[in-house]
Amino acid sequence: MRETARRNATQEIRARRAILYVPGNDTRKVEKAVTLGADSVCLDLEDGVAANRKAEARSLVANALRTRDFGVSEKLARINGIGSGFENDDLAAVVPTRPDGIVVPKVNDADELRWVSERIGELEIRDGITRGSIALIGMIESARGVVNLREIASADARLEALIFGAEDYAADVGAIRTREGLEVLYARSAIVAACAAFGLQAIDLLFLDFHDPDGLRAETLRGAQLGYAGTQVIHPNQVALVQEVFTPGDAAIAQAQRIADAAAQHLADGRGAFALDDKMVDMPVIKAAERVLARARAAGKID
Ligand code: COA
Ligand code: MG
Repeated sequence: MRETARRNATQEIRARRAILYVPGNDTRKVEKAVTLGADSVCLDLEDGVAANRKAEARSLVANALRTRDFGVSEKLARINGIGSGFENDDLAAVVPTRPDGIVVPKVNDADELRWVSERIGELEIRDGITRGSIALIGMIESARGVVNLREIASADARLEALIFGAEDYAADVGAIRTREGLEVLYARSAIVAACAAFGLQAIDLLFLDFHDPDGLRAETLRGAQLGYAGTQVIHPNQVALVQEVFTPGDAAIAQAQRIADAAAQHLADGRGAFALDDKMVDMPVIKAAERVLARARAAGKID
């Protein structure tokens, strides 16, 4: 069984509440991105970069990964999709710089992720990089990606998270995007379930209107309610807002701690269900409280 599949909800790895994309060939934005306190900064080689700028972006991204101080942010690079013809050169350029992780877009099946993992493994050996130290994050943004979720989510030990690419998914199935998002709800929920089943983080869809904080808050909250741990952002003014939504508030943490403490007491006394504030507490409630505490820990709010 894969390493990550044994991880449970209370051992959440680093928080990825906000993954900020930056077009890889935009040096000014790259410089700015690493100062914003985003949990992850993802230098993009894929759709944020025009086809005639791929080579230039590749060398700029490799250079930035090698030389920039990313501060508190995780260093990610998004390569082009498997089968695009760019993927080999992208990996050869970015892996030797030792990023924290590689984002693989448009994952259609498990073999694509396994191919990337093997290629990274070869480069790790060649360059003396610790085996398995570079994580994988897969993007689910096609109908095939959704129907193959189980195999994809359990494909490889490097895989830490799945990202939902709602716009590409909608285009692939012929859905018409709406503000309410019912047309992507099935895929959005299926990704959360697959992530929970295999111990991965679920990263939500991108809210494109970066001048609409109320809309961003509502959409991010909906993702958090569905079970997402973080989301993608494209603009500096989206970072703090989504981090706030994905970080449990003080009241929620205090309540979760009360439930966990009471549970420890009652379970020791042999009781699986008990009353707290006139409401029944049993295992699902305790697990939810533990998850709140895990998220607070991952966000650095509690020890
Ligand atoms: N990362 C870092 N800095 C960014 C940024 C990003 N993703 N997006 C904007 N900025 C910076 C701008 O450079 C500008 O800084 P400056 O005033 O010091 O030059 C400031 O934030 C305000 O930007 P603004 O003028 O509001 O936006 P814009 O018109 O320059 O850019 C986008 C708008 C959408 C093109 C831009 O936000 C962007 O490129 N986002 C990422 C797109 C991407 O990577 N897509 C692929 C993945 S989905
Ligand atoms: Mg996409």
